[in-house]
Amino acid sequence: MDKILEDVRVLDFTHVWFGPYCTMMLGELGAEVIMVEPPWGNIGRLGPGELYKGTATTFWALNQNKRNVAVDLKNPEAMALVKELVKKSDVVVQNFAPGAMERLGLGYDVLKALNPKIVYAALSGFGQTGPYSRYGSYAVVAEAISGHTYATGKGISPDHPPVTMAGALGDLGPAIYAAFAIVAALRHRDRTGVGQMIDVCQVDTMVAFNCCSSVAYDMFKESPIARRLKRPQDPNRIWGVFPVKDGWVQIAGERGKAIENLKQELGVDEVSKEMVQERIGGKTRMEAFQWLANLGFPCAPIYEAHEAMWDPHLKARGMWVDVESPVAGRYTVPNFPVKFSETPGEVESASPAIGMHTREVFRGLLGKSDAELDALEKAGAIAQWKG
Ligand SMILES: CC(C)(COP(=O)(O)OP(=O)(O)OC[C@H]1O[C@@H](n2cnc3c(N)ncnc32)[C@H](O)[C@@H]1OP(=O)(O)O)[C@@H](O)C(=O)NCCC(=O)NCCS
Repeated sequence: MDKILEDVRVLDFTHVWFGPYCTMMLGELGAEVIMVEPPWGNIGRLGPGELYKGTATTFWALNQNKRNVAVDLKNPEAMALVKELVKKSDVVVQNFAPGAMERLGLGYDVLKALNPKIVYAALSGFGQTGPYSRYGSYAVVAEAISGHTYATGKGISPDHPPVTMAGALGDLGPAIYAAFAIVAALRHRDRTGVGQMIDVCQVDTMVAFNCCSSVAYDMFKESPIARRLKRPQDPNRIWGVFPVKDGWVQIAGERGKAIENLKQELGVDEVSKEMVQERIGGKTRMEAFQWLANLGFPCAPIYEAHEAMWDPHLKARGMWVDVESPVAGRYTVPNFPVKFSETPGEVESASPAIGMHTREVFRGLLGKSDAELDALEKAGAIAQWKG
């Protein structure tokens, strides 16, 4: 077996960040991912946000290794085709607001009747049940309700108001949970022949990510942030963001061996942040990082995301690959970030144009003729990208 999920077909109804990142992970592990997108484009493709060649840069980043069929799911003939695809798929993933798939006639009960082995992952903001379940959500919503936004602000200073986290972790973190749950459900299906529904939401998973804070509260019955602020801080703790000649380095210096090495290097019995600052202030980020790392300090240069593309270590780890799109041209994306000794993940193709594989999929998987597909296209049920 070359790719670990090569025998898995995923029918991908996802549209924005949370869902597409989940199915991209599956695709990069070799699953055949078929995106089902409206012929007019989904919200993840259309923005808001900066467009590149008519498509959101985030769409270009979040949909590698997928094929794309353009289908109007509100057209009954198109729906019939999609149901045929469900019968031939292992997994269905969607991240619409709860209720949208059911209104389309593609709820779990319907799909289970079509294919009892189907693993159906419903990704949402607040979950399929509970008082808030019908509410829409974006990453920031889940970050807020799970405590991350509050803690990020307090991380700046005790009086700081909440600060929105960077990087949409409220989408991408839950997406990894979703991909992990799908793979676990496939293992169960392979053992038992039974599919299942997976209800994975941003809020539950972001709460799970904040486990250390909630457990600490439960133990002391007091906010761990308030407790931290009351605790006397060790003035010699070499921890934090330090300015250097061309920016900043992040030092996470709680490591006994590193502190001992630094004492030796400086010829002192006690070390302080000021001593470190004095030694690194005139160095570049890279010089400071390497000096500290060689002493044993966990630390890093502080980059803007694109600077990691030039870093020699990340290049040596094979973290960047070029993909080629007939619309966007050649662009660079992160590789699948986990290394497998036997079945490596791999980025193979750029995010698809709308309907780039409509005919290929319906011909190849459902045996539809060109005449049938012409008629469906004429009726507006499907669309094929024409370049
Ligand atoms: C992100 C979100 C707020 C966007 O809301 P929205 O743009 O109003 O989209 P919804 O999910 O409510 O609905 C999607 C609509 O597109 C329709 N649609 C989707 N694919 C379609 C297709 N191929 N053809 C025709 N219609 C389609 C659906 O039927 C639905 O229409 P309806 O409202 O008439 O039932 C919402 O999808 C959501 O909360 N998702 C779950 C949480 C999440 O993943 N958030 C995104 C993180 S970045």
